[in-house]
Amino acid sequence: MQHLFHKGTDETKPTLLLLHGTGGDEHSLISLAKEIDATANILSVRGNVLENGMPRFFRRLAEGVFDIEDLIFRTQELQSFLATAAEEYGFDRTRIVAIGYSNGANIAASLLFHFEDALAGAILHHPMVPRRGIELPALPNIPVFIGAGTNDPMCTAQESEDLESLLSKAGAHVTTAWFNYGHQLTMPEVEAARAWYRQSF
Ligand code: MLT
Repeated sequence: MQHLFHKGTDETKPTLLLLHGTGGDEHSLISLAKEIDATANILSVRGNVLENGMPRFFRRLAEGVFDIEDLIFRTQELQSFLATAAEEYGFDRTRIVAIGYSNGANIAASLLFHFEDALAGAILHHPMVPRRGIELPALPNIPVFIGAGTNDPMCTAQESEDLESLLSKAGAHVTTAWFNYGHQLTMPEVEAARAWYRQSF
């Protein structure tokens, strides 16, 4: 997968896996990652799917309606890529914390829904429930931050609440922070994510 890797200055920190929103790329979330932790490794990946020229991490049939077969295939592809990247760059595969926005948050959530060892934690900005009707793997005490907008037309409040509940039932330690905005990522949300990260890692 197309990506970039920046080696961090503090080896005790996890590796931050950056997953952009629709139309973004591997450069989109670098400044966000620096706000969260300027000293950690950064692995930033570009989604392999194109929708009208816009990179995404999996296909959708319509806005908010996912192509589940492709979602499963792309989730597996990303999971395999993480193992390869850890080998290549020499970071600890068991200490990856995803930071995803929108479509990137959805593939991060999908990693959690399909693999028990994919992520050591996740910051999900404006995620949806990636897939319904499946049993999640055990996610004992995996810290997850969900940033949600009370007026988000794409990721409704119900989606955020359902996601929190599904992840919590699997054992994850979920913190949901609500903001009185829509789908956009705002500075108060980034600050809340940073405070959560500092407590969690
Ligand atoms: C998705 O397709 O993952 C969601 O609709 C969010 C998005 O792409 O922005």
